[in-house]
Amino acid sequence: MAQLKSWISLPLGLPTNEFQELIQKTKDWTLMHGGGIRSKHHFSSDSLTVVPFTLLPSVFPRDEFQKALNIQPVLNELTHMVSRDYEFLQSCLEKTIEVDEFTNNLYKLYETVREEGFTQCGALQSKCLGLLRSDYMLDVCHSLSVKQVEMNTIASSFGGMTSSVLTHRFVLQQLDLLDTFKLLPENKAVQGLCSAIIKAWELFNDEDSVVLVIIEDKSINICDQRFHEFELTRQKPELRVIRKTLTQISNEAKLTESKDLIVQSKKVAVVYYRAGYSPDHYHSDAEWSARLLIERSTAIKCPNIQYHLAGTKKVQQSLAIPGMLERFIKDPAKVADVREVFTGLYSLDLDESGDKAVKLALDNPECYVLKPQREGGGNNFYGEAIRQKLMSCINSKERSAWILMEKICPPVQQNYLIRPEQDFTKNSTLNDVISELGIFGTILCDGDTILLNEQVGHMMRTKLTSCNEGGVHAGDGVLDSPFLIDLQKK
Ligand SMILES: Nc1ncnc2c1ncn2[C@@H]1O[C@H](COP(=O)(O)OP(=O)(O)O)[C@@H](O)[C@H]1O
Ligand SMILES: [Mg+2]
Repeated sequence: MAQLKSWISLPLGLPTNEFQELIQKTKDWTLMHGGGIRSKHHFSSDSLTVVPFTLLPSVFPRDEFQKALNIQPVLNELTHMVSRDYEFLQSCLEKTIEVDEFTNNLYKLYETVREEGFTQCGALQSKCLGLLRSDYMLDVCHSLSVKQVEMNTIASSFGGMTSSVLTHRFVLQQLDLLDTFKLLPENKAVQGLCSAIIKAWELFNDEDSVVLVIIEDKSINICDQRFHEFELTRQKPELRVIRKTLTQISNEAKLTESKDLIVQSKKVAVVYYRAGYSPDHYHSDAEWSARLLIERSTAIKCPNIQYHLAGTKKVQQSLAIPGMLERFIKDPAKVADVREVFTGLYSLDLDESGDKAVKLALDNPECYVLKPQREGGGNNFYGEAIRQKLMSCINSKERSAWILMEKICPPVQQNYLIRPEQDFTKNSTLNDVISELGIFGTILCDGDTILLNEQVGHMMRTKLTSCNEGGVHAGDGVLDSPFLIDLQKK
């Protein structure tokens, strides 16, 4: 694996007691500035533990960072166009929904509101809001260029925390490296994400209406969610935010005759989902009914069901089929830019091209990732497990529930990973790590009119090289910041 040299000489070379003090002080600083997360194992709504983070920011090439920022508005619009293309969504997902119950449930919901939209005029409403995050890794196979891991269209997280808790600035200051501040790019993700929610609320045009946040039964990532909520209130003090689970919505929410969504006697202008992307969030039919109720309402959904489906891995794979991007993007230069960040993506449908992909994976499983239609981390298969999984369904339709993706090989760097309750007397060693960059985008539309389409900020996560998955919420990744340098490319 290619190694990326750190911007600072490592190990840090501080005496043990000074190193431990730096770590403890940085943990306290992070927690005191909102870098907290609820403990999964000892959950209490009264306490927080420090969010896992890298002690030092990680090197990222400036031009590749800029490339990822520049392309975001094109990806926002692409997602929007896909969400409006019924034939495309149907043909992408038709095989998958035969075998994947969760995607099928989402798709049925889509069909229901779509049909009602035609018969009842307006259930499939024209206003929509996307808060998106496109994730990338640097790929050393292509001379250090960014490759897209996935596009998130629902509950894209960590914009609040990574733009509000500037731990790495604090560390650089502690290390007496003030002149390096300028190499940490400005990040206004939470301001941009919340400004888009407010614009949607204004578009709804009812001063008394509220923003509804759909949450999990237990919100582990509470600080990130609250950063959004408190930023909304900072920008728009008169705006009220209500937080409910889908179960609570099924018991408490109503639709008026004109299809306004009413929660706690308030009309809902915007529904912002921070849950609803995993089968675990639907305990019974009640939660699906709640989702349908919201979908039928006049509230602006973030995301609506079409945006949710446009974020499936199956759609990502279909967009990579040669010629497909041209269906949605008319400017050939933009098509080329998007294509450049795609890596190999293959359907596993029970047909000739699916058979070819199966062969690729069986011949070299270590070069691929096998992905189902799931979000939230921990669902993919790697290496030998790919072979076993594919062999178990080689002649069955079940294959269509999955896609195959070329494995991206990011350069390895070194860093110290800080986690709660870690004993740093024994474990102060440097780790080999790799990073994943996320770029946030916002898009607000009314029918064919795009009212807002922006890139608004970034986040970075880092994980051990020995670890396949990288979710911070899931427990594998830790928060990081890009430290921009100009690399001489080969
Ligand atoms: N093509 C890939 N190459 C290398 N690692 C990958 C690839 N795709 C996914 N991963 C790793 O798996 C993690 C989860 O995959 P992802 O597609 O983001 O699914 P999820 O929706 O569960 O977040 C990523 O954060 C990344 O660490
Ligand atoms: Mg992901």
